[in-house]
Amino acid sequence: MRYLLIGSLLFFLSWTHLLGEDFISKMEYAKMLYSNPRGIGCNKCHGEKGEGSIIAEYMHKNKKVRLEAPTITNLSKERFFHALTTQHKVMPTYFLTWQEIDSLYYYVSSEVKK
Ligand code: HEC
Repeated sequence: MRYLLIGSLLFFLSWTHLLGEDFISKMEYAKMLYSNPRGIGCNKCHGEKGEGSIIAEYMHKNKKVRLEAPTITNLSKERFFHALTTQHKVMPTYFLTWQEIDSLYYYVSSEVKK
């Protein structure tokens, strides 16, 4: 009987612990948003962790043209927000909320990404 009591107490404690936790972590949410921001994923151009990448290289009038997405891991918050709320030539325009942009910023600027 005593063991049953202790057992159910432990079960109860671990259950309340589960409820207390967020369903997914802040980092997991931010990572999901980064690859699916209601539009083409940031990762498609800026790389999985915001390190930047070469989108395309082609010849134009006998010159090599390189289209690059810049590294976005060490920008100021102001610059990041500005980029995501203005129009660009190559980068699409997104319609993200302030919290979503903040979350994306958290993801790319964090040192340890999961
Ligand atoms: C189609 C490719 C593409 C996608 C998708 C894309 N970007 Fe970009 N991004 C670029 C390019 C190219 C630039 C350089 C400016 C320009 O010409 O558009 C840029 C610029 C930026 C900048 C400004 C960098 C600086 O140095 O000021 C930020 C911040 C940024 N992108 C974040 C994002 C985030 C966050 C997402 C996802 C919501 C995203 N980008 C999706 C291509 C892309």
